Amino acid sequence: DKGAYPYYMLKEIDEQPGVMRTLIKHYISEDGSIKIDDNILQSLHQSDRIYIVAAGTSYHAGLVGKELLEKVAKIPTEVHVASEFGYNPPLLAAKPFFIFLTQSGETADSRQVLAQVNEQGYQSLTITNVENSTLSREATYTLLLYAGPEIAVASTKAYTGQIALEAILAKALGELRQVATAADFDVAKELTKVANGEQELVDEKKDIKKIAAALLPTTRNAFYIGRSIDYDIVQEAALKLKEVSYIQTEGFASGELKHGTISLIEKGTPVLAVITDKHTAKHTRSNAQEVMARGANVVFIASRSLAKDGDQIVLPDVHPLLTPLVAIVPCQLMAYYASLQRGYDVDKPRNLAKSVTVE
Ligand code: M6R
Repeated sequence: DKGAYPYYMLKEIDEQPGVMRTLIKHYISEDGSIKIDDNILQSLHQSDRIYIVAAGTSYHAGLVGKELLEKVAKIPTEVHVASEFGYNPPLLAAKPFFIFLTQSGETADSRQVLAQVNEQGYQSLTITNVENSTLSREATYTLLLYAGPEIAVASTKAYTGQIALEAILAKALGELRQVATAADFDVAKELTKVANGEQELVDEKKDIKKIAAALLPTTRNAFYIGRSIDYDIVQEAALKLKEVSYIQTEGFASGELKHGTISLIEKGTPVLAVITDKHTAKHTRSNAQEVMARGANVVFIASRSLAKDGDQIVLPDVHPLLTPLVAIVPCQLMAYYASLQRGYDVDKPRNLAKSVTVE
């Protein structure tokens, strides 16, 4: 039931701070210890490489999962699109462990990979929002997102839920592996900060509505740019915008612009630059200058500590590995408003199904 909300997508965007709090409650004790089955942690600990397999938005959550697992738990991690992995698997490490990220737990492309993984006798974990879903039943282990039903075709709270749970998992695994970064990572405190930050952003949705109305009402294409973790964010931001507004949108690594994409920039082309990574902030700003010089209409989405006068969207500061959890919120809202302003049914974009049960 969408209650007073006009669309599920908006309701689900607004629910994200609550999803963070629910995950903290489910997975972290008062004393800070993490409540994840020790068998899962031991299996992960014994593996020499993690393979995250997923599709669409869940794949994008996997990109951030790689950052978390490699930086907090120090385990090499690869992220794969399920439909690619299924037919062209990479050369596997000696002791692989598989994580399937899936909101629905029913995605056929991922199920097909899991069947192969099971045939080869490898251990796996499904992170899903749906208890007893196929991928949950067929994997060795399951962790649930407890995000509540996600009805809108465009995935929102499952993305942030998946990343938050990956953060909790990385913390637990890092502690087990005695990684110093993990000891310093107070995941409950950091996710609480994220929840508050997301709340601030959903409360300011009118500003995003105005920006969308000025930037996106008639454009044929748009670009999101960012580097490092911001490149992970912009890939998801671009998928959100394109799937509900039908604006051809791509998320690019800003450093790649000059290797080809910049030729697409014309007078008035919308470019949204995401800046939450302090190591690359300067570089993305200079890439933004380059597209501005070619007539692009640039909107800056920047963390407060990295923001400059005139930046249109300022994000609350959170832990550097958790910035996708706040940065994605205005991007989801941007997609939502662009879709409505262009006259579409935002909950049911054309040609798409909520769960893709065919390969
Ligand atoms: O249920 P899953 O997480 O496995 O679904 C994966 C994708 O089909 C899904 O994320 C899709 O890309 C959404 N339309 C994204 O908003």
